[in-house]
Amino acid sequence: MSITNEKEVIGLSPTGAEHYCNKQRIVNAYPDQLKSSLNLKDTNQAIHEISVWPGYEPTPLHPLKNLAMDLGLKQIYYKDESQRFGLGSFKALGGAYGVLRFLCNKVAEELKEDIKIEDLRKGKYAELTQRYTVVTATDGNHGRSVAYGAKLFGCRCQIYIHAKVSMGRKKAMEDLGAEVIRVDGNYDDSLRASIEDAEKHNWQIISDTSYHGYTEYPRHIMAGYTILAEEIADQLSEKTQPTHIFLQAGVGGFAASMCAYFWEKFGHQNIKFVVVEPKLAPCLIESAKAGQLKIFDIKEETMMAGLSCGEPSLLAWNILNKGADHFMTVSDDMVPTVMRLMANGAGGNTAIEAGESAVGGLIGLLEIAQDEKIKKQLALNSDSVILLFGTEGATDPDIYNAITKEI
Ligand SMILES: Cc1ncc(COP(=O)(O)O)c(C=O)c1O
Repeated sequence: MSITNEKEVIGLSPTGAEHYCNKQRIVNAYPDQLKSSLNLKDTNQAIHEISVWPGYEPTPLHPLKNLAMDLGLKQIYYKDESQRFGLGSFKALGGAYGVLRFLCNKVAEELKEDIKIEDLRKGKYAELTQRYTVVTATDGNHGRSVAYGAKLFGCRCQIYIHAKVSMGRKKAMEDLGAEVIRVDGNYDDSLRASIEDAEKHNWQIISDTSYHGYTEYPRHIMAGYTILAEEIADQLSEKTQPTHIFLQAGVGGFAASMCAYFWEKFGHQNIKFVVVEPKLAPCLIESAKAGQLKIFDIKEETMMAGLSCGEPSLLAWNILNKGADHFMTVSDDMVPTVMRLMANGAGGNTAIEAGESAVGGLIGLLEIAQDEKIKKQLALNSDSVILLFGTEGATDPDIYNAITKEI
């Protein structure tokens, strides 16, 4: 096992982004020790199930040719999750799958026999499932997925949101039949409230973040996300496989699931993974700098609402600590401009609906493109093929319209 011997680099780029080059990065095959956090068998199971859900279809992968040319790169691909299951974000793949896996476990436990997942999906155990309640804390997208799963598979759903979650995002979850409770404070406060109430009422937490003693459902949720990586592997030919993957992160579950998938599947290709966080919620870069999981106290909410998390997911941290090449932060200032750039179709030939959290990775790329030192360090050049993830569309249409229609 070898570890990159690049020197530690902590510094500020000319545009104010903070960078950290990860000294812990393991450059060869996906290590066995990480397979208990996530592996390709989990992906296969998730695909087998989710690909038969009503409305499933692979989402588009757009080439951003103009932007690649402007930045002197070979190609940029943008995986567009704005229409996933009609829920507006990639999160639709995770929470709902977590709910299904929980209900299967619970029904099997109650009946004291193995059950088939498709029987549960088709409503055979509806009388039992309607007695269970799933609960989660959310900035919007994960909760919407859990509410969708509860509706699809027939159980009750309780969602906790913090003070700054928009009315539009709240309503989207209520429209799916969830009861939504707003608590004072930030995401981490809503998480604590959800855990307390779940214990009191014997409800099941279906969280997208993992911690000591709670990893089973976050792992299924991350496995659900990897479906979009599998779609990309099918959509790209061998010649166009990515050299660099930019991953915006909140608790890190999404970034870790993509990192684990591409690392395990294409380990020999030495793909570079760049984790991008908002300056206002930099829990992963802070953990990387400290060499251990760190909690960041969020003082101000970033407009990239899905990325506003102060505590990394344990499973995600395990993977990113060894798999990410580079951690960086971006400021909110560029979010509206880049959303408008996408809405105007300036990156490629198509107008793309990119929500606030969707443009985090692209902003990271634009920052690095201006920084010769980091570019060189990451070998970002005219041979590079970049993969970006448009993780959400207009998940709150009022906010999206207000931003993209601004002059
Ligand atoms: C649109 C969007 N993008 C990215 C993320 C980040 O995912 P994670 O919290 O797993 O890092 C989220 C999280 O909710 C999100 O909603």
